[in-house]
Amino acid sequence: MTASKALFDLSQKVCLVTGANRGLGRAIAIGLAEAGADVIIACRDKAAGAAVAGEIASQGRRAQVVPCDMERWSDIDTLVKAACDSFGRLDVLVNNAGIAHDPLPLTDVDEGMFDRFFHVNTRGPMRLASLVAQRMAQSGGGSIVNILTFGAIKPGGYLSMYCSSKAAMRSLNRSMAEEWAPLGIRVNAIAPGPFMTDMLKDLAGSTEGFMDFTVQTTLLKRVAEPHEIVGPVVFLASAASSYVTGQILPVCGGGISM
Ligand SMILES: NC(=O)c1ccc[n+]([C@@H]2O[C@H](COP(=O)([O-])OP(=O)(O)OC[C@H]3O[C@@H](n4cnc5c(N)ncnc54)[C@H](OP(=O)(O)O)[C@@H]3O)[C@@H](O)[C@H]2O)c1
Repeated sequence: MTASKALFDLSQKVCLVTGANRGLGRAIAIGLAEAGADVIIACRDKAAGAAVAGEIASQGRRAQVVPCDMERWSDIDTLVKAACDSFGRLDVLVNNAGIAHDPLPLTDVDEGMFDRFFHVNTRGPMRLASLVAQRMAQSGGGSIVNILTFGAIKPGGYLSMYCSSKAAMRSLNRSMAEEWAPLGIRVNAIAPGPFMTDMLKDLAGSTEGFMDFTVQTTLLKRVAEPHEIVGPVVFLASAASSYVTGQILPVCGGGISM
């Protein structure tokens, strides 16, 4: 293996990806396995998770599905214990699972919706990262990648719960990086722009003109395919980014700059 290839090699690494049953999470799980990693597929849909695990196993890597609803801390506790019991260590966490909503005025947000968005997009990922960091510390460190949205940096009207719950995660990304750097843990975030997954299709389906509008927010004037998230995640997960922590990498076709 060449020295530059070795930088991105994830052989012997154990990666945990949430929401790995479909969309960006599925692409990330398969991409990490292609880079050499064993993968824990955390998801609610066991059948879809098992299909992803089958794809990973066919590449000769180990994969295990662990059911987890990110709204429930008890599920998150069980997930981390199950992952460590099976694989003995955790090297990489990708906090990918998340929810978005159709455009909605702030005045229509109710208590339940507010709680749900912060539970899934902020509270659960924070709890998971906190438990994983303790395990990573026992084996000398690791890398955590939080999947935000470009709306966490450039929020807009009518997507308030989505943008604000991800913006809170942006803040937590920095707190995690500062608290866990002494433990050998790097923490970075990716701020995706529009990717062609169910999330974007649902938004486009319910809102006339949304797809055209979102394409126009990019410099590249197109929506990304899920596999285009893999390179940035493998970079942040691997030794290729050994001196990078506390950062946010926009992967949004140039829609924003940091
Ligand atoms: N696609 C985009 O344009 C875009 C842009 C910016 C940021 N992102 C972010 O990228 C991440 C992945 O999004 P995606 O586009 O792949 O969306 P997606 O196709 O809708 O997939 C979302 C994933 O999150 C999981 N999830 C939702 N609620 C959950 C919960 N309570 N517990 C556990 N898992 C839960 C879903 O599981 P189920 O299958 O069980 O529902 C699914 O696996 C999200 O954090 C999203 O905010 C996406």
